[in-house]
This record gives sequence, structure tokens and C-alpha cells, in this order.
Amino acid sequence: MEKKRIACCISGRGSNFKAILDAVNTNEIQGEIVLVVTDNPGAEGLSYAHENGIRSETVVRKKGEPRYEYFERIIRLFEEYGVDLICLAGFMKVLSGNIVSRYRNRIINIHPALLPSFPGEKAQRQAVEYGVKVSGCTVHFVDEGVDTGPIILQEAVPVEDGDTEETLAARILKKEHVLFPRAVKLFCSDMLTVEGRFVRVSDRGLGC
Ligand code: GAR
Repeated sequence: MEKKRIACCISGRGSNFKAILDAVNTNEIQGEIVLVVTDNPGAEGLSYAHENGIRSETVVRKKGEPRYEYFERIIRLFEEYGVDLICLAGFMKVLSGNIVSRYRNRIINIHPALLPSFPGEKAQRQAVEYGVKVSGCTVHFVDEGVDTGPIILQEAVPVEDGDTEETLAARILKKEHVLFPRAVKLFCSDMLTVEGRFVRVSDRGLGC
């Protein structure tokens, strides 16, 4: 099986990108990160790309630039690098329809809540303010909606008395760093099949 060519999109800290990178570097994932794209020239996570000799491209949306055209520029990069899989690892822009349809079921996002609860921004704050007892994280394929695509994997964490947005986010983040590489591994091993809203995981053993 050929290694999949992965692009990671980040906007900030990049700890999920780092978790995927670590799993690639230990050959846990049958893939290669060929490109990192950011919309934020100051994204701290770019340092992991630099340290690992991974090409990075900063694509800032120009004033008044239509979303469609902004994402056309990003699509051209993905094409140039021959990307098979796009990982949204804390990428804080909603994708436009052109990129979703071009890479249908090849864009994976991590969201810090148990979808369909608390989609959109500040999911951990939404969970704390709502008073739920359980939250978690979701890895899903990206469709035209906001955090509505077919779910690949989910993991729950307890919400404890006295939790703040920050303490809950830290607890969820630990799970994200396990769940996202696991989903990328499944994709890169051709073990995911999408049937409508359902993502089937092939039952070959994985040990990760
Ligand atoms: C993560 O918690 C991720 O789930 C969240 O942003 C954080 C990025 O952290 N993503 C979203 O909220 C997307 N809607 P990281 O840059 O350290 O990976």
C-alpha cells in the first residue's frame, strides 16, 4: 500500500498536528506529511514543520477576498503537493463548498465536543456553561455544514464539578491527541468506508 500524502491545516498551537506527526514518524501511520497550511503567519505549530523539514505555506485571506477564491488558492496548493488527505488540526476557518466537494471524504476535522452537541466555536465553554456531565471529542469527515459531517471516532471525558473552560479543554485535548492519529491511521490504511452518514471501520485489528 502506498503511503498517503497528508496535508495538515493549523491556525495556532498545532498540538494535534504534532500528535499526527509523531505517529507518522514512528510509522504508526502509513503516510507522509507533505505540507502544512496555515491562515496565521504567527501559528506556533509551524515550528514543528520547520523542525521536521516539512514544507509550510501561509495563506492569509486578503481583504474582501471571497471565501471561494481564498480556498481556490489553497486547493491549488493541495494539487501541487498531490495531497490525498487533509487534516484540519485546529484550523479555525469554515471551508467553502469548492474545497469540500473537491476533497469529499478526504478532509478530516477534530472537534472538542461530542457532536452533534456544541458545534462551532468555543465548544468546551459551551459544554461547561450548559452543565453537561460528559463531553469529549469527535473526529469526522468534513461536509458542507459546520461540524456536521460523518463521524469517524468519538471519545468521552467526564465534566467535573468546578471545571472551567480551560480545565475541560485540557482533559479533552489529551484524548484528541490519541483519537486524531488513530483516525488518520485508519484512513491511511484504507480501513474507512463512508455510507451516507455512516463511517464503517474495517474490522482488521489495529493495535493503536
Ligand atoms: C483543539 O482543541 C481542536 O479540537 C480545536 O482547536 C484546538 C486546536 O489545538 N478545534 C476546533 O475547535 C475546531 N472547531 P491545537 O492547535 O493544539 O491542535
